[in-house]
Amino acid sequence: MKKALLAAAIFLAAATSASAKGSASVSVEWNPFSTDTIMPEIYGQFAEHLGTCIYGGLWVGPDSDIPNTDGYRNDVLDALRQLHIPVMRWPGGCFADEYHWMDGIGPKAGRPRMVNNNWGGTVEDNSFGTHEFFNLCELLGCEPYLSGNVGSGTVEELAKWVEYITAEDGPMATLRKKNGRQKPWHLKYLGVGNESWGCGGDMLPEYYADLFRRYGVYCRNYDGNRLFKIASGASDYDYRWTEVLMKKAASKMDGISLHYYTVFSWSEPKGSAIDFTADQYYWALAKCLEIEKVIKHHATIMDVYDPSKRVALMVDEWGTWWDEEPGSIKGHLYQQNSMRDAMVAALSLNVFHKFTDRVRMANIAQVANVLQSMVLTKGPEMVLTPTYYVFKMYAPHQGARVLPLDIKCDSRQVPSERSSKPRTLPTVSATASEKDGVITISLTNVDLKEACEVNIPVESLKVKSVSGEILTAPDMTAYNDFGKPEAVTLKPFNGAKTTSGTLKVDLPAMSIVTLTLQK
Ligand code: AHR
Repeated sequence: MKKALLAAAIFLAAATSASAKGSASVSVEWNPFSTDTIMPEIYGQFAEHLGTCIYGGLWVGPDSDIPNTDGYRNDVLDALRQLHIPVMRWPGGCFADEYHWMDGIGPKAGRPRMVNNNWGGTVEDNSFGTHEFFNLCELLGCEPYLSGNVGSGTVEELAKWVEYITAEDGPMATLRKKNGRQKPWHLKYLGVGNESWGCGGDMLPEYYADLFRRYGVYCRNYDGNRLFKIASGASDYDYRWTEVLMKKAASKMDGISLHYYTVFSWSEPKGSAIDFTADQYYWALAKCLEIEKVIKHHATIMDVYDPSKRVALMVDEWGTWWDEEPGSIKGHLYQQNSMRDAMVAALSLNVFHKFTDRVRMANIAQVANVLQSMVLTKGPEMVLTPTYYVFKMYAPHQGARVLPLDIKCDSRQVPSERSSKPRTLPTVSATASEKDGVITISLTNVDLKEACEVNIPVESLKVKSVSGEILTAPDMTAYNDFGKPEAVTLKPFNGAKTTSGTLKVDLPAMSIVTLTLQK
């Protein structure tokens, strides 16, 4: 968890309004030779032992009355499969640096219990451990991303975990086989600690850089498995952390992480997830877009020490962080998810698409029941959040070639919580990509009242057909609730027409649209 940032006195003075009814032009560089691929891993997820993310959200155990496959909830599995999740980070977060993996293997009855000190002091029974996580990844067809304990663990402990998971033979492989898994699992992504500047050990960057090098020596590549070692990186605007790590350890790492939350303050209040004003809506969107500047700044530092861009910047925690829902357990970070969160998701993904040369993974926090989730569960019930639908409609961008854009549109000035200088929020944002001859364009209009006509020149493309999907709602605070029809859901979109070489899109107020162009 982060230390409290300055609590700004100016909680959102009125946002300066843009000029009336909007129009925007979006020109897309239709470059058939572009090789810049949107790494599917940008659409990564994060599952921490926190609140009901694992227990209740993903895992109910094989004896549960809730329909499940070997203990994993069927409804959640089905929903997540539709997102084509490329990678899942586990077991934390802050939890990772207190987690001792040996407690989570072997017969369940013999697994010791522990207090989850970071998250509400809940007692954890370790019934979901290494086997349960790797089997989940196999069921979802995603890469596992293991976050190792550096804060309170030892080099030996993490080295043995890697051996347990990936070695064909040897003492750890024998133990794994005794616990029911013959073949090693594949493990690519290994995080060496989490937030080592804070909950992961409160270290200084110089000290952590040395530790990272040391852990790197002993976390080995067994039997053809190749680890991609990720250093615990900075949060937000902590550029010194990146500078020191890159200077001291760039040659030893494959990736370095970055955490960036759309959060008003690290102390309370952060604001309600579903009860907010138009100014708070615009603040969140402008804040989330500031990640572009933050990534640029970290990437510029990385360029100094790694000009060939070998080291990836992994935004392995991002998303909105609001007050916990009234009545929920303190420390479990359970929050609802509105149309505003959907906007934050779309705008953030658009930004990640711009940094294909550096940003090769991003993991939204978190997959179920925690912060900006894909799904929320209550007993046997599940709802799909507005954010889920953004991930669904953006799925065609995974692994596609990015098509650079130039957007001309109105913008508004939005007060910032950290500086007297306001942030600029463009009314229209967009991203485009091409895969297998199909072009996907995603557009957002953040304006709460005004529709916008967007013109996209497509003459050179010989577009045969255009189809689309839209995510919008009657109100910015709309959300999907248990036992009620969905208030925010995907619908077909018929507002795009090609005339005289221009694709004209009537983009409704507060909407996210994805268009599919067949040539
Ligand atoms: O995602 C919740 C928490 O946020 C994570 O455990 C930690 O890494 C970050 O502070």
